[in-house]
Amino acid sequence: MRIERTCFWSMLQALALLPTMALKDAQMTTKKFSEEPEFERPIGNHTFFLGREAVLGCAVTNLGKHKVGWLRAEDQTVLTMHDRAVLGARYSVSLDAPRTWQLRIRPLRAEDRGCYMCQINTQPNMKWQIGCIDVYVPPDIISDDASGDVSVQELENATLTCKATGHPPPKITWRREDHEPILLKKPMSRDFDKVENYVGSSLPLWRVDRRQMGAFLCIASNDVPPAVSKRITLLVNFAPTVKVPNQLLGAPLGTDVKLKCYVEAYPNTINYWIKNRGEMLLDGPKYTIREEKASYKVSMWLTIRQFSRNDIGTYNCVSTNSLGKSEGTLRLYEIKLNSYQEDFNQISVAGGLTEAAKGDTSNFLHSNRIFLCTLCLFAYLYMFT
Ligand SMILES: *[C@@H]1O[C@H](CO)[C@@H](O)[C@H](O)[C@H]1NC(C)=O
Ligand SMILES: *[C@@H]1O[C@H](CO)[C@@H](O)[C@H](O)[C@H]1NC(C)=O
Repeated sequence: MRIERTCFWSMLQALALLPTMALKDAQMTTKKFSEEPEFERPIGNHTFFLGREAVLGCAVTNLGKHKVGWLRAEDQTVLTMHDRAVLGARYSVSLDAPRTWQLRIRPLRAEDRGCYMCQINTQPNMKWQIGCIDVYVPPDIISDDASGDVSVQELENATLTCKATGHPPPKITWRREDHEPILLKKPMSRDFDKVENYVGSSLPLWRVDRRQMGAFLCIASNDVPPAVSKRITLLVNFAPTVKVPNQLLGAPLGTDVKLKCYVEAYPNTINYWIKNRGEMLLDGPKYTIREEKASYKVSMWLTIRQFSRNDIGTYNCVSTNSLGKSEGTLRLYEIKLNSYQEDFNQISVAGGLTEAAKGDTSNFLHSNRIFLCTLCLFAYLYMFT
């Protein structure tokens, strides 16, 4: 180390920046030892951003005829000598503040992180001090999977992973793109914890549920703006499941009847209606077929116009996707109008009998109709008198 430093100063002398005679004269005319050059203050450790400029100051008093040089501490590479740069265009030295030699590095690279030495060519021992710079690098996400999609079967495990570079090491935060909470299965439980976000480079999802499907954002941030994010879509594949809110529907002849099914499935389904286990129903003057899709949920409606005796029977909503097929069953029957009910036409379409009420429900309805309508009448009278 010492040899190299000596080397450095020989080089300096060889460049005639510092004639040997002058140095000797200076030493001879320096009467007092207290007039030796001194560092005014430590260089200190500093942080700079990648691509910007790093500035380290070396403040010296009583320099006299001595010279100041900057070296990279790690390998003793000379960067500047007195007032000129020796190595490369990125380094420069300026004497901005009084008696302060400022080493400037621009544009700053990650490999400039490290310690720098300010030296004074005092004899016989050179004086030196060290200061270090840290180079802050904004976060960047490493994409090894361009699509960013993760596709699993329901109840399989899935892990969403995001790797990021940057300095200091970025923090990875996960959240859902739709701002809904992230569902995390509690260990050994069917329940979920709801969290706004999750911190960690991997988001482990145990026995994935369809409700966890969606677009996630992994956000990498450190002290250097801007934070960056990547979108990763979790696709949960499962065969259709069909729910029928009203399995038994009664309607008076001549009315329009609306049948409804709820489907859940992914990937996308093909949905249709069949009547009496036979013909597939088509949208037209008799039937209106409609469906509405929101992520993995589909609502299916079949409206039968001008309900007639021919329409009495069994209807199925059928849903298929690449993973399977499922169907719901609805039974449609006629409600015979009597004199009471004609008064309350609008409330006489009896829907809303669910699975529990299945069985011989039509008899039940018949025997209770009088009773129910008496109740209706009382309610009616109560409201309007
Ligand atoms: C500056 O940083 C170096 C290396 O990281 C460390 O050894 C030194 O103690 C630090 N000095 C100060 C004053 O913090
Ligand atoms: C899912 O992960 C759990 C625990 O990490 C493990 O016990 C289980 O075998 C995994 N299931 C599958 C289908 O890989």
